Amino acid sequence: MTIQTYATYEELSRKTADLIIESVKDKPNPLVCLASGHTPIGVFKCLVEDVKAGKLDVSNWTFVGLDEWNGMNGSTKGSCRQMMDEDLFEPLSIPENQIVFFDGTQPNVQDQCDKVNELIHQHGGLDVMLVGIGLNGHIGMNEPGTAFDTFAHISQLAEETITVGQKYFPGETKLSTGITMGLKHFQEARLPIIMANGEKKADIIAKVAASQPIESLPASIVHMTPQAYIMVDRAAGSLL
Ligand code: PGA
Repeated sequence: MTIQTYATYEELSRKTADLIIESVKDKPNPLVCLASGHTPIGVFKCLVEDVKAGKLDVSNWTFVGLDEWNGMNGSTKGSCRQMMDEDLFEPLSIPENQIVFFDGTQPNVQDQCDKVNELIHQHGGLDVMLVGIGLNGHIGMNEPGTAFDTFAHISQLAEETITVGQKYFPGETKLSTGITMGLKHFQEARLPIIMANGEKKADIIAKVAASQPIESLPASIVHMTPQAYIMVDRAAGSLL
């Protein structure tokens, strides 16, 4: 596992985008799993800038959404899909056939998990998996206690995630379960990245860095993932 610290959020975002772009540049059809949430917005900006400047072509990428809240899809303001539509897919006019995303409004959630697991398995693993980190150490919606060997599954959200998750929505929103890529996807990805910025993430980043791999701290799977990166800005890395 490699830890990289950058002076600012802007630099962190640029370097993370560059790492992703470089890693897939020779792949004929890369499978790129990206998180929504506030952390990766700077990376999305860089990708959009590069495509608009003619420096990057993502027409052969398949975008895989990391997770979604149960009961939601792109039509709910604040959902994972809606945030990624706004910051990435719409600015880049990505067609629907290049997007694989959980739809939490559909009854066949297990089916969706099975399908995405199969897609990733057929591809030989994700090329990129970019995740943020929760204050409780979750990645995606893999909450503390999730087995390290799980693929896509339905997750019971931790209380902290339900409370902190309110920040994405215009008003108080009932959250209880979600659908998420699994920790095993992270471990098997060619380029797994945990990205964090800001002072608020300093404690959890230091805790993960110092931890043994233990299921009560999902992000500690990085210690069983030699090819993984933890990318942070100076504030998030201040307790390392
Ligand atoms: P954030 O969320 O990027 O909005 O901080 C990260 C997470 O909870 O996984």
